[in-house]
Amino acid sequence: MADEVQARLDELRRLIRRHDHLYHGLDAPEIANAEYDALFDELLALERAHPDRITEDSPSQRVGGAPLPEFAAVTHEVAMLSLEKVATAAELAEWHGRCLGRLGDESLAFCCEPKIDGVAVALIYEHGRLALAATRGDGRTGEDITANVRTIPSVPLRLQGDAAPPRFEVRGEIYISKQDFKAFNERARAADERTLVNPRNGAAGSLRQLDPKITAARPLKMYCYSLGWVAGDWRPETQMEALQHLAAWGLRTNPEAKLVQDIAACQAYLEDIAERRGALPYDIDGVVVKVNSLEQQRRLGAVTRRPRWAVAYKYPAEEATTRVLGVEFQVGRTGAITPVAKLEPVFVGGVTVSNATLHNMDEVRRLGLGLGDRVMVRRAGDVIPQIVSVIKEGAGGEQFEAGDADGAPAIDQGAQTGDEAALANSQGNIKLPTQCPACGSPVVRPEGEAVARCSAAATQCPAQRKEGLQHYASRLAMDIEGLGYKLVEQLVETGMVKTPADLYRLDARELAALPRMGDKSAENLLQALSASRSTTLARFIYALGIREVGEATAQNLAAHFGDLAPLCNATAEELEVVPDVGPIVAAKIAAYFGNKGNQALVDELVAEGVHWPTVEARVAAMPLAGQTWVLTGSLEEMPRSEAKQKLIGLGAKVAGSVSKNTAQVVAGPAAGNKLARAEELGVPVMDEAAFLDLLRANNVL
Ligand code: IVH
Repeated sequence: MADEVQARLDELRRLIRRHDHLYHGLDAPEIANAEYDALFDELLALERAHPDRITEDSPSQRVGGAPLPEFAAVTHEVAMLSLEKVATAAELAEWHGRCLGRLGDESLAFCCEPKIDGVAVALIYEHGRLALAATRGDGRTGEDITANVRTIPSVPLRLQGDAAPPRFEVRGEIYISKQDFKAFNERARAADERTLVNPRNGAAGSLRQLDPKITAARPLKMYCYSLGWVAGDWRPETQMEALQHLAAWGLRTNPEAKLVQDIAACQAYLEDIAERRGALPYDIDGVVVKVNSLEQQRRLGAVTRRPRWAVAYKYPAEEATTRVLGVEFQVGRTGAITPVAKLEPVFVGGVTVSNATLHNMDEVRRLGLGLGDRVMVRRAGDVIPQIVSVIKEGAGGEQFEAGDADGAPAIDQGAQTGDEAALANSQGNIKLPTQCPACGSPVVRPEGEAVARCSAAATQCPAQRKEGLQHYASRLAMDIEGLGYKLVEQLVETGMVKTPADLYRLDARELAALPRMGDKSAENLLQALSASRSTTLARFIYALGIREVGEATAQNLAAHFGDLAPLCNATAEELEVVPDVGPIVAAKIAAYFGNKGNQALVDELVAEGVHWPTVEARVAAMPLAGQTWVLTGSLEEMPRSEAKQKLIGLGAKVAGSVSKNTAQVVAGPAAGNKLARAEELGVPVMDEAAFLDLLRANNVL
């Protein structure tokens, strides 16, 4: 019956809206994705069967309607203002002082919110339905982007409940989260499609699409931050109250918004957000501080294009444009040759940057980078500066980049530079050197690998030698205090040190004679070197700098093999048993110890007195040393293999059957014979919860 169809359509739309809100608006889904998909599929099927019943606010309409010929202009009833900017505590205090001056020293509370780096939009809701979405434009006139905004899951097409005013305008920021940005670009890269330059640019470009289906495929989100205007009598009294109502109607608001009672608390908020900037799920360029009372806001009013009642506290920009002056090729510890762009110095992320890693030649090609190009440089947090895109001079519209990747350590070696005038449109003029800039050996690039390498052995190339020594001395490795990079360079360049073993044979007089050294420093260094002889097996393995063996893998290897000899003699298959060691890592480790030179170095280091506690000594000191445990039944929280590893890590032996020598049985649900046997022999039994408590108490969970 037709009415039944309508009832089901209404019900499905209501359910989907509710789950959209829970998922996209509140980050608190109540059903699994598959259940949601089932509801959605049912709605689509029903609408296909009854196309005349499709409404504009049906959740199915988010996929994006027909392309538009152009965007219509929208005049904002209330201008969308911009904000005064401040960058220091003193400037913020001045602004506060001016507010107090105008209000006659009333007390002021503030609403502080992250200033998300996205696109400002205004949404008009009429009788609970999204009626219009517009860009800010010049503040007076924007563009009608309703068709695009309809595709954004966190923008309700219909509000929750019926308490919202009959007509009102809400404002907020549309953005792409860092995670979505990364995932989008990874997918695009895999499909050899264009990637987005940065989240802000991606959001702006996505909203500027005439074809809403393109927008629908972009991971846009929206946070609402204020009311533009409201029809009817209802008015909130404060900014916080407005936010609470927006949230109650189903609009997404930023949970970081906070009411603070004075300017000192405001400053604390600024510092807190600055500290957490890198960990926030979206890019911000600062914090917006608003006078909380809307009545005080009214009295403060606005000057030409900005309100007096709010201010943007800007953090240092994380992106800036500059020019690539040259490219140097640096040689790392494992011989990897990394192109590094030499930049016209530029202030970005709070520091002056003059180098940016280019990772490898594939990256250079993907960026389409040439000497002399203008580039966008990004330095977020403590991350090594990256070039995110080449700016094609005179190009407009949506920008695309090629990608981002992790940083790589490197040292200064050969360079390519050029005369700027000759460098315009110079793409393709960055060439991988054929010889290692440090030792002149041929540069090789194995088939299928992005990284080119110096073909010389680590001990033969001074650049690899320096990096290797630096790594050996580093904090997580042998932790040799006072052996910094400059000193390593001197030691290698003077020929005093070739391998880590040479460090232990350094002569105090010779050392003291080095520039900037002196007796005291030499003595301190020798003492630090001496102290470093006593180490742990894990640190030592890590210090060797075996390719693909980081700190965690070194720890796993040490725990598994217990001593150096069994590790050195292990076959690739034996190595693969170790947690986190796959075939590639296993092959690298086996190849390392299979090399005579490496084996000689290890022997020499041991002969120089490098040592670690023996397995026996270490195991004897462990909390479960000397105990035999038995696991039985299924564990719910972790696989049995993991439980076994944890027990071994605590010094226990894990046996397959219970005897009178068994110290403890861990019995999960459905434990059978072994449990009965334990009870018979009077062996203590614990359940999974007690076992987990024990792991926690020993800091292994
Ligand atoms: S309040 C007059 N709050 O910053 C009030 N703006 O210059 C102006 N922005 O592009 C807006 N996050 O889109 C406000 N929590 C926030 C904001 C915010 C980002 C953007 C806004 C506009 C610019 C204001």
